[in-house]
Amino acid sequence: MTADASLHLPGHPHVHRDADGHLRVEGLRVEQLAERFGTPLYAYSRAAIVESVRAYRRALAGRDHLVCYAMKANSNLALLQLLAAEGCGFDIVSGGELERVLAAGGDPGRVVFSGVGKTEAEMARALEVGVLCFNVESESEIERLAEVAARTGRVARVSVRVNPDVDAGTHPYISTGLKSNKFGIAHDRALEVYRRAAALPSLQVVGIDCHIGSQITDISPYLDALDRVLDLVEALEREGIRIPHLDVGGGLGITYRDEAPPAADALVAALIGHLERRGHAHRTLMFEPGRSIVGNAGLLLTRAVVLKGPAHDTGNVDPQAKNFCIVDAAMNDLMRPAMYGAWMGIVEAGPTAGLPPATWDVVGPVCESGDWLGRDRVLAVKPGSLLAVLSAGAYAMSMASNYNTRGRAAEVLVDGDRAWLIRERETPLDLFRGEHLLEPGALGG
Ligand code: LLP
Repeated sequence: MTADASLHLPGHPHVHRDADGHLRVEGLRVEQLAERFGTPLYAYSRAAIVESVRAYRRALAGRDHLVCYAMKANSNLALLQLLAAEGCGFDIVSGGELERVLAAGGDPGRVVFSGVGKTEAEMARALEVGVLCFNVESESEIERLAEVAARTGRVARVSVRVNPDVDAGTHPYISTGLKSNKFGIAHDRALEVYRRAAALPSLQVVGIDCHIGSQITDISPYLDALDRVLDLVEALEREGIRIPHLDVGGGLGITYRDEAPPAADALVAALIGHLERRGHAHRTLMFEPGRSIVGNAGLLLTRAVVLKGPAHDTGNVDPQAKNFCIVDAAMNDLMRPAMYGAWMGIVEAGPTAGLPPATWDVVGPVCESGDWLGRDRVLAVKPGSLLAVLSAGAYAMSMASNYNTRGRAAEVLVDGDRAWLIRERETPLDLFRGEHLLEPGALGG
């Protein structure tokens, strides 16, 4: 496997095409993975995940910091276990995610709890296990959290998620730092909310938080948001409300196609430089990255099941007709194209010599026209060909559903020339296990 640097895939440090034309994750051919584990299959590179965390941590070395992996990007237990071992805490947004952290052996004392609609049961559980901090997102949440903490005889550590009203320049569905978004507490209300939090005995103010969006490819919105946050911190400390930690959220983008986001260490260095200039470098610095940790560490492997259209059906000479490559993965496995019109790279998994390339819409078998993975892609395929969807480590498996009673895919973690099954493929029985048939008497008639 002579790995010519030019055969590495953009953005994917541990995926390359070997000299014989076979795509590999680390040392393993993806064709072998598909043979062994079946398709559709998610395959992740352990080295890529570890290196992306280390890029953040390297730039933060020597300072008080915590990288809280935003596990909504990919919440597989084995990945959480790996990230905990790398020193990560976790950013969670539900009681379910908290249980995953605990099941993976993560430390609840390194968990920040974000989210606009935390229920009282979720708050109580998070207090019981001792999460590091609640990122409070509304004025009423302050009151409810204080009540739940008082009722259970605990003190809730809080940080207000400030909505700085800056434009992250990203897709409207994943932009969160504008006044018109549902997230956080408006900048001009934050002072008053902190005063209230500081006055409630069952709350302890420990920090300030902001997250402005996702797939951000430029440093400047981060600096704008940081400036707004620091203005608040200065005002708060003038009033005697101490703000030990600054959580700047997640959001760093990855390369799907030709985006050129800053490297994680460059982003961290720019933020630290700005903190130093403004005299705030002594604070604990926290991040909540998701996509930039796992996004380009993963592939979705899928096999062509049916080809239709003039490129395949010799009798079809309609010049207007499209070519469809119908694969065994679908929108239920990978929602991003259907939901955001997202572009995800799709490449052949093996050598294509002798197969003529044609332009295909790569679609799934789900009964929706929105069920597509890529449109107008030039690929050399035949029925049974294996394809790889790139950049599928983040917001892919974690957004999968069972629509059309399709079991969710299996997941494997590749480490050098070994592969570990980290999630089994769901069977139909798994899907209807919790359902109940009506008793005969309830059928009426
Ligand atoms: N912190 C908070 C409070 C968040 O809401 C998010 C993401 C993150 C951190 C992590 O952001 P990241 O580093 O992954 O950009 N499903 C969409 C992305 C939704 C992001 C939601 N919040 C997609 O597939 O593009």
